[in-house]
Amino acid sequence: MPLPIAVLVSGNGSNLQSIIDRIEAGALDVEIKLVISNKADAYGLERARSHGIPTRVLLHTEYDSREAFDTDMVRAIRDSGVDESGVVVMAGFMRIVTHVFLGVFENRVINIHPALLPSFPGVYGQGDAADYGVKISGCTVHFVDEQMDHGPVIIQAAVPCLPGEGGGGLSPRILKMEHRVLPQALQWLVDGRLEIDGRFVRLKPADKAVSQQPLADIEPETYALIWPPLEEGF
Ligand code: GAR
Repeated sequence: MPLPIAVLVSGNGSNLQSIIDRIEAGALDVEIKLVISNKADAYGLERARSHGIPTRVLLHTEYDSREAFDTDMVRAIRDSGVDESGVVVMAGFMRIVTHVFLGVFENRVINIHPALLPSFPGVYGQGDAADYGVKISGCTVHFVDEQMDHGPVIIQAAVPCLPGEGGGGLSPRILKMEHRVLPQALQWLVDGRLEIDGRFVRLKPADKAVSQQPLADIEPETYALIWPPLEEGF
């Protein structure tokens, strides 16, 4: 039985789409019971509807407190058929959630962020990284806690920052990586393979044989993404 999940979006929903695509490809064993947006015009809602996925709009601006907003989100998610053994994915959801939400879905909420946390948290991680002049940035999937872009890290992917490209050039290259690591992290969680120990997330071995991407053949001790590349002799 696919695990019931809810997905929270605020905008374009390309990460939601990456989950839908992996479900349809048979790689991801979940059923999206509900997509919630805090923005009525989020394109992610259209994506959900075009795949027959129920949607709800909950406008945070209509609530007096974060807790009241979270109470309604919890109710909507439960009503859709996702209980505390399900998973909630924040896929471009630009809100922090409170203890009201996290107390129900304890260690069951994950978020994707477009930077290598703890660097460049916030709403424009790609632009902040590009403006800072870092040579490598990327994306992070992490468990959600009450602080913004903060909880234990599940997976990260690094991409080089190219000269002069700025956040606008970097964003789509990071996004391509987001679309790979978010569904992967979700499937690990669904398979019960993620063990949280404080800030550390351990990936337990799979019960069945899994074939991995070619990079996984490289010994972790000797692998590094270094950008710009080292020159001969170093
Ligand atoms: C993604 O880049 C996601 O990492 C980012 O919002 C974008 C949503 O794109 N999230 C954050 O910045 C969270 N702090 P999408 O709507 O196309 O999935």
